[in-house]
Amino acid sequence: MGRGVDRLLADFGHELPSIPQPPAKERDPRLFAPMSRRGERRPLRGWSPASAPVSVWRMAADQAPVLWPLVSAPGLPPRGAQMGIDHFSGASMYADPNGWVLDPAIPVSNPNIFMFGKPGQGKSATVKAFCLRMMGFGYRTLVVGDPKDEYEPLCRALGVAPIAIGQGLDARINPLAFGPLGANWDRLGRDEAQRRAGIVFSRWLTLIRGLVGSQKVGDRPVPFGPSEEKVVDTALKALTGHAAGNSVLTETTIPHLWRALDEPTAELIEACHYASRQHFLDETRLLRDALGILVHGTLRGLFDDYTTIDLDWAAPIQSLSLSRLEGLGDEAVGMALLCLNSWGRAMRETAEPGDMRIVVRDESWKQLRLGLEAVKSFDADLRLSRRDGDIQFAIAHKPSDLLTAGDAGSQASAIAKDMLHLADTKILLGQDQAVADELEHLLGLGPIATEIVTDWARQAPGRALWVVGELMAKVATWLHPAEAALAWTNAKLEGALP
Ligand SMILES: Nc1ncnc2c1ncn2[C@@H]1O[C@H](COP(=O)(O)OP(=O)(O)OP(=O)(O)O)[C@@H](O)[C@H]1O
Ligand SMILES: [Mg+2]
Repeated sequence: MGRGVDRLLADFGHELPSIPQPPAKERDPRLFAPMSRRGERRPLRGWSPASAPVSVWRMAADQAPVLWPLVSAPGLPPRGAQMGIDHFSGASMYADPNGWVLDPAIPVSNPNIFMFGKPGQGKSATVKAFCLRMMGFGYRTLVVGDPKDEYEPLCRALGVAPIAIGQGLDARINPLAFGPLGANWDRLGRDEAQRRAGIVFSRWLTLIRGLVGSQKVGDRPVPFGPSEEKVVDTALKALTGHAAGNSVLTETTIPHLWRALDEPTAELIEACHYASRQHFLDETRLLRDALGILVHGTLRGLFDDYTTIDLDWAAPIQSLSLSRLEGLGDEAVGMALLCLNSWGRAMRETAEPGDMRIVVRDESWKQLRLGLEAVKSFDADLRLSRRDGDIQFAIAHKPSDLLTAGDAGSQASAIAKDMLHLADTKILLGQDQAVADELEHLLGLGPIATEIVTDWARQAPGRALWVVGELMAKVATWLHPAEAALAWTNAKLEGALP
């Protein structure tokens, strides 16, 4: 060992200055007596993995945070659209409905979303932000019916001209179009042609059933039972040439169908087993009158001719603006939504792999209110989404909107109630206290979750409880200033003020 520098210098008579040391502090007495790793060597002592007895508590998931407020549930994985802050975990909240379906750790089995919220709470703004942010992941958006034309600024910002539908405008949509399934029909093998025909005819029947069943005689819906179905199916097969075994089918329209039933051919009467022409006309009067209203009534000039618009399916967003129908009443808007849904479904029937869409149904309650058949048609769309990977995003004011389809206990209200299970993700924006009961009973939210919706979420637009399967996130959606400008829907109100 050598000498240190100070010692070396001292040997030659140089003293280095030293820093005065503070007096040593008295040590605090030990709080815990030192203990060997094996514990005390006495009876009933020693080492134990848990020093305190484990007590068992039973409580609902929404009560647990009261006792353990600092323990947060595992959040959703950071994949997909970053929506805002999850106030449960304090982290960012990401939405990725298809990713959630594929992730076994997340208890959802479909990518559909139902969103509920009082008017003005930011439902549409949240959808717009979600769609925009999902575009980065390859999703395109189809807004099947925009009753307030509020998606137009978003479309324009993305360089897409929205399509307006209304009386006196050129745009027509034929809900009885074949869609992409009709392409190259003459080159199809027999089996494939039959398969496609099955899909197309069943879609049309669902639509006609919805349109006819939405109309009322007194307060009862116009019936559409097996006899009506047979008549419509037979007429459609005759009109398209399917009955004659044609290899190329002809597109037909609702007025053609109406005329075929109004002036039935002998073949149609016979194929449907009616004794005479008069018998046919007597039995199908209600059906013909209901179809006649579509041809001559409020929706005339909208869905009664061949499609004139040419949607660019590669565009990031497509939206069909419907504000011009507003004056025709909610029922007409609901029927228009039915026609658009059927047509939109047709357009998606041969979606290429990787062609991922978010199908937005804003104000969907208008369609659901039409009755049982309209609910069934909606239900069919939701069921298909698992197959083709579309994210169906339906917006309504409150969960009980789904039940206005029929009287309590009716088939319509039962189907509508079940429909809630077809969307495993629910986004619940602010609601009034009066809706608390239905949040608990229809959605099974506990009191704490219900209070988040009726209190916390009410305090600012965009705040919502996201229920993803059984996971919950208390999310405040943040809009970028550019998004906020596109989602600004208070312009009219602002303009009305002095
Ligand atoms: N996350 C948010 N942050 C800030 N402002 C928001 C947010 N979400 C919505 N807003 C604002 O609140 C207003 C109402 O939003 P929005 O139109 O989306 O409500 P809504 O629930 O769709 O209403 P309605 O039921 O009438 O269609 C808009 O002007 C929008 O800019
Ligand atoms: Mg809205």
